[in-house]
Order: sequence, then structure tokens, then C-alpha cells
Amino acid sequence: MPEFHLLPPAAAASATAYDYLWWYEVGIAVAMTALIFLGVFYFAVRYRRRSEDYVPKMIEGSYRLEITWSILPFLVMLTFFFWGAALYFRGQNPPANAMNVYVVGKQWMWKVQYPNGVREINELHVPVGRPVKLTMASEDVIHSFFIPAFRLKRDVIPGRYNQLWFTATKPGRYHLFCAEYCGTEHSGMIGWVTVMEPKDFQNWLVSGGAEGSMASQGQKLFQQYGCSTCHLFDEQGRCPNLKGMFGSRVLLSDGRTVVADEAYVRESILDPNAKIVAGFSRDIMPTFQGVLNEEQVLELTEYIKSLAETRGGMFTDEQTGPTRGGGRGGSIANAGEGSLDAHGTSMTNQPPRPEANAQAQDATQPPAPLPASAGAGGKK
Ligand code: CUA
Repeated sequence: MPEFHLLPPAAAASATAYDYLWWYEVGIAVAMTALIFLGVFYFAVRYRRRSEDYVPKMIEGSYRLEITWSILPFLVMLTFFFWGAALYFRGQNPPANAMNVYVVGKQWMWKVQYPNGVREINELHVPVGRPVKLTMASEDVIHSFFIPAFRLKRDVIPGRYNQLWFTATKPGRYHLFCAEYCGTEHSGMIGWVTVMEPKDFQNWLVSGGAEGSMASQGQKLFQQYGCSTCHLFDEQGRCPNLKGMFGSRVLLSDGRTVVADEAYVRESILDPNAKIVAGFSRDIMPTFQGVLNEEQVLELTEYIKSLAETRGGMFTDEQTGPTRGGGRGGSIANAGEGSLDAHGTSMTNQPPRPEANAQAQDATQPPAPLPASAGAGGKK
């Protein structure tokens, strides 16, 4: 006989936090229901008709009573809101030191890629005790990334990035599901999250990534698709200089300012006219909609992020992971000193650069609104 569990195992900090709220709500619901039903039974007995000719005394309403039983439950219910909202905001704001992992949903599989280039399908390996941020995109339809043991579920929607973060607390293997009906093999779109001890995770992480880091693959794409002919690094090209751009505030030609985050980079690649940087013209850059798939866009984003790091952008090396292993001698992606691997271990024995911490504060700023107009994402 399988063991009976009311809830799946709780293997993330978020899981316990949500469980407390869940038990609290269940507790209040049970208490309220009990109060109502006990009241019904008590009054039914207390005020029953005692004889055929019994005429009860007329009772007029009581404002005090009515206001009390309206306001008190209202205040109690409001605690659901505030507690839930607090958890929601925490869930929306990954800590600055979170490790980045990219997830692309596709009929019918989950494709996972680490900044150092390691890829896997329907598997997600994470270290225990370290915040992990997932940046998720869809190649085709809406999927939903669901890890019951972490009490986390988020839709993965074509045309935008959705994020999810967690800190796993217990080593083990946990089920991973697609929780949005996405076609015939939706039910097969399942996999496993493996939570490992940090040391084991590091060993696992360095064992793969033969194709080079995401940033170095992004750099190849940057050359291959001719981006480098207009986006010059040392002088003014026909398109904005991307060095140090990621994470900064960008002034647009219409006077608005946006934060150059993943969503902004993605939109600028797939719909270049959506936001024109001040001082540049429309229709210079072609769209890469349908040319690049979501994974390639993510690789380019990693590359552009690595350009920001070379002058101490808002993201620390720790977040974007190693740029070693790319095998691209002299690549700009590899130029940043003191690179950390995705596990946070210094690979070059250089002390962490102090400005990385100072700049990390920028990460607490709210992300720019996600582009709703960015189209349906790359095709494959
Ligand atoms: Cu993907 Cu259901």
C-alpha cells in the first residue's frame, strides 16, 4: 500500500511558506463553518417551538451585532489577502544572487539550459539551499511549469518571459509537470527536478556543456546573423552599442525610459521597432521573428548580459555563470575577469569585484513591463 500524503513532500522554502498559509486558510474555513453550523443547531434547539399555542417574543434587529459579525470576519479574511500578497510579491522578486536557469516549453517537452551551456530535456538539476531563478519562454503554445513539491506553478506563454524562483531545501527527485492542456501529448510533458548537494551539483554541472557557454553561443549568433556589423562596441554604429547596456536604463526616442532586462532584449530582437533608442532610426534592424528560436534568443541575451558585466553591470558574474568552456579564444564573453561559474565558485581565484555588489542593488528595481506585443515567439 502506498503511503497516504495529504500534501506532496515539501522540498523548497516556498513550499513551507505556502503550506502555512494553506493550513491557516483551512483552519479559518473550518472554524467559520463550525461556528455557523453550531450556531444553527444551537438556535434551532434553544428557540424551538415549545407548545402549540406558544407565540415567541418579537425580536427587533441589533445593529451592534450585525456590524460586529460583518466587520470581524472581514478583518479575518483580509489576513488572507495580506499574507497571500506578501508571498506573491516574494515569489515575483528573485534575490539578486539567484542562479539563472532557462526553460523553454515546447510541444511536448521542457528544454532546460544553464548559462554554462549544459542542456537537458525534461530534467532540471538544482543545488540545495541556493536561490534559483527560472526564465521561461514557450516556442509554441501556453504551457504551465509545475513543481508540486515546491508548490510552484507558472504559465509559460508564447511571446514573453515568465519567471519563477525558489530555494530547494531537500535533496531528492521531484516530479515536474505541464499543468496546462497543450495538445495530444500534454500528459507526457513531465519530468524530474533533481535537488543535489552543492558539491554534487557542481560536479554535475561541469560535466556537460560541450557546445560552450550560452554567452559564447550567443556570440556566435551575434556574428553569424550580422548583428556585429551594426552594433559596434568601440565606436558609434548604426545601432546602439550593447556594451554595458544590459541592466541599465535606456532612453527611448519617444522620451520614455526602460530598464534593459531580458524582456526588453527579447522584444528588441524580435520586434526591433517596438522601442527605438533615442538617437537611432526605425527600420534599420530587421526582425528576427521566425528566424531565431527562443533558445537562440536566450543565448543572445546571455551574450548581451556578459557584455554588461565587462564593465560591472547590474548582474554579477555569479548570476550568469561561467563563460569558460566556450573555447572561443579572445571572445568578449570571456573577457570579464574573475568569472564565477554558475555555482558561485571563483574559477580564476580573483577576488570578487566590489562594484558587482554595489550594482546589484539595481536588481531590486521593478522590472520593466513585459511586452505584450512581442508576437508569438520564434518558430521551429
Ligand atoms: Cu505543455 Cu501541457
